[in-house]
Amino acid sequence: MGAPPIKRRSFGVPHRAPGSPARGPRQYLTGRQIKYYRPTGHAAIRSLIDDGFQAFNAGRLSEACHIFADKMLAPKNDTTIGLTVAGAMTPAGLGGCIIEMMERGLFDFLISTGANLYHDLHYALNFQLRRGSPFLDDRDLYAAGVIRIYDVLFPATVLLETDEYIRAFLKRSGMNGPVSSSEFHYRLCLDLIKQRPGCEEYSVVARAAALGVPIYTSSPGDSSIGMNIAWHELMNGSNLMIDPNLDVNEVCAIILAGKKNGCVILGGGSPKNFYLQGQPTLWEVYGIPKGGNDYFIQITTDQVVWGGLSGATPSEAVSWGKVNPGVLPDTVVAYADSTIAFPLFCEYAVGGKWSTRKRKELFHKREALLAELKKQGAGAHKKRAKLARGAS
Ligand SMILES: NC(=O)c1ccc[n+]([C@@H]2O[C@H](COP(=O)([O-])OP(=O)(O)OC[C@H]3O[C@@H](n4cnc5c(N)ncnc54)[C@H](O)[C@@H]3O)[C@@H](O)[C@H]2O)c1
Repeated sequence: MGAPPIKRRSFGVPHRAPGSPARGPRQYLTGRQIKYYRPTGHAAIRSLIDDGFQAFNAGRLSEACHIFADKMLAPKNDTTIGLTVAGAMTPAGLGGCIIEMMERGLFDFLISTGANLYHDLHYALNFQLRRGSPFLDDRDLYAAGVIRIYDVLFPATVLLETDEYIRAFLKRSGMNGPVSSSEFHYRLCLDLIKQRPGCEEYSVVARAAALGVPIYTSSPGDSSIGMNIAWHELMNGSNLMIDPNLDVNEVCAIILAGKKNGCVILGGGSPKNFYLQGQPTLWEVYGIPKGGNDYFIQITTDQVVWGGLSGATPSEAVSWGKVNPGVLPDTVVAYADSTIAFPLFCEYAVGGKWSTRKRKELFHKREALLAELKKQGAGAHKKRAKLARGAS
């Protein structure tokens, strides 16, 4: 006869098989609450980056800070700047950096994994994520109803309650057809502010709408937001869907309109390509030679040797027409953990000479930008057809 079965408790988390917890969720959730950190432009950090970060990846990060603060933000360049976000940045508390930079007009649009936007909603809804340890027994966490993202811990009920909010929003919104992800996030923002006044101080999604910063997600089905939209379709017969074609064209139209274009890429993943493909969409598909990005900054832990897009260098992007071949000195990859490098980068920009810019409010200009893309696309199409006729 074996040992008697362990009495299992699930600590009130439905839909999860009960495990064998030695502890309840409260014992794990004693670490400090993770809050969004706002950069203030600290002089000591600027001095560290200028004088202390001299070589290797410290040197690359210093270079990135200079390209951004001295060139991309320079008023004469009027650069349209996209921020792309992969990796678990909002769970780690980096949303405050994004909010600060958006408020100051230092980023004009955002492309993010759905996960970062989903986890940002926890902050808007006032749920708490906590500092923990990466060295815990995950079987015990599972049984105790605690979710772990490396060393970030929070109760599984946060997921369930955030999902409940999303489903209620989907119903309330009445949206029932194809929308761009920028439109979807804008509507989500308005709802958040209505339901939780003041939450825009603590949430990237909730803050972006008032600032006119469009937020795109490159893989809408690949997050808990997408999972709830799928539920809404099957269970409520909704026809709401995030239409990637709308997103591809909007991002492309934004890039076409940029006097100069530049990006700050955190991690890599699909947001990186979704931004960079804007240039090939223009020359390869629409037939509009825009010339490639003028600035390219990436902070990543990925490597070029695997051949994947996340680790691909700006130099490789030149061959695709994603980066202007004449500007390679204005491109840099810092191999670093974004949770360390990005707050430093933002501190540097916020403390710099051009620490605020007039916001472009691209969200409200999307229709005009799309009309221009269509006009130029039609012109290029005619030219191509004429050339083809001439050749035959
Ligand atoms: N519940 C959810 O909604 C949920 C949760 C997690 C992930 N997801 C989905 O899974 C997909 C993958 O997401 P992901 O964010 O884990 O990206 P990912 O694992 O694809 O990472 C992308 C790149 O970023 C780099 N990277 C990751 N963390 C980094 C860091 N701290 N510093 C520097 N570089 C870093 C990696 O090396 C990689 O090259 C997304 O589509 C996301 O929406 C959904």
